[in-house]
Amino acid sequence: MKIIVVGAGNVGLATALCFAKNGHLVYCVDNDHSKIKKLQQGQITLYEPKLQELLSEQIQNKNIFFTESLDSVLKQTSVIFLTVGTPNLNTGQADIRAIESVVDQISRYSDLPTLFQIIIRSTAPPETNKYLSKKYPSLHFITSPEFLREGSALSDGLNPDRIIIGTDSNPEADLALFKEIYKNFKLNPEKYFLMNSVSAEMTKYAANIFLAARVSLINEFSRVCEKNGADIHMIKNGLGADKRIGSEFLNAGLGYGGSCFPKDIEAYLHYSLNLNEDLKITKSVKETNALQIYKFTEKIISCLKNNFYKKVCLWGASFKPETDDLRGSPSLKIISALIENGFTVNIFDPEAHNSLKALFNNRKEIFIYTDKYEALAQTEALIIATEWSEFISCDLSQVKHAMLQPNVFDGRNIFDPENMKSLGFNYVGVGRPT
Ligand code: UGA
Repeated sequence: MKIIVVGAGNVGLATALCFAKNGHLVYCVDNDHSKIKKLQQGQITLYEPKLQELLSEQIQNKNIFFTESLDSVLKQTSVIFLTVGTPNLNTGQADIRAIESVVDQISRYSDLPTLFQIIIRSTAPPETNKYLSKKYPSLHFITSPEFLREGSALSDGLNPDRIIIGTDSNPEADLALFKEIYKNFKLNPEKYFLMNSVSAEMTKYAANIFLAARVSLINEFSRVCEKNGADIHMIKNGLGADKRIGSEFLNAGLGYGGSCFPKDIEAYLHYSLNLNEDLKITKSVKETNALQIYKFTEKIISCLKNNFYKKVCLWGASFKPETDDLRGSPSLKIISALIENGFTVNIFDPEAHNSLKALFNNRKEIFIYTDKYEALAQTEALIIATEWSEFISCDLSQVKHAMLQPNVFDGRNIFDPENMKSLGFNYVGVGRPT
């Protein structure tokens, strides 16, 4: 089958490559000239495990083509996935103008005999599909949200937990279309969920808010642990063993970040304003997340405020491991609070080096390193902000040797408190005995 994917960001690129890998001929479209140029040359535009290999392979096999011109590929197929961005406006509202602009362009082709099937994979507020269907009656819209995590987008895309198909007309035909699209993915029939469009839109928001709520809840437990001496790590294991709860998404830390949870919570809360419903849980998920990072940062500052050099090292700037994405990263909040309080910060991140350089461009309080041990030189504390595996397996004696004072603030609980103590570190974790 021929498929168009509009939007070559982290979701679009992963989606396009997963379809290409499964035997489709994919046209991936983006209006960003430099991005398309790089992709045409076989170079990745963001870091994601195995992305470079899959891109090179699929370009070589001629299963994927990149273009800036949607018009030039519209005649090839009627199946179009939209994966363009829906950022928040200042009010929190999701900005769906990028979706509308693409749809508008497609609508100008509607006099062709083909009925375009526009699959909305971008995260868009509930009722977006209905709104577009009304505005563009000659186009058919299906909402099929994505559930790709940055850092494991390709494995999530190639082995999806579920395929949501949100449609308000032709459900049988739409199910058949999706079964054809996913034919080579060899999914069990139970993985297809046919529903109306607003339920599909709600499923996406509900999934992200549910996961964010788990993170906020475990983080709130961690703060109680810090007061009463309980160990959040033990609690996580005890909780996770309950099949009804499960062990995923129970890691206490600096709170959630990224371009999805914070954005979607804002958009959903904004959407709810017209419903006259007070979404107390969703609001407190957001507030708890902000509190978590604030409290951790306060802890660092109050421990080190009387230090002479006020020089610290931060490992892991991206919002989670295996990505170079700094958007919404808790580390950025820590860095700016430290700078406001007169600290200088040495930063090391395995993949976000270039984005960090671009972001902090010659700030005199920030030094960006390409070697994690060099970044520790003469510092009075190490802050772990992201749980990259190379931090978990680091040489702790080298860490201690490089530092001026052996203070470790472990925002992701990657080290064992007892072990750290026996090695002579002053160790502070999240919700763990110190
Ligand atoms: C999230 C969802 O997991 C995807 O299913 C969804 O498709 C995507 O948003 C999206 O809407 O596009 P992502 O933001 O890439 O994916 O990353 P997650 O793995 O969900 O992590 C989100 C944040 O929660 C990270 O900052 C992570 O550090 C934090 N987290 C996660 C915790 O603090 N503790 C945990 O136990 C798990």
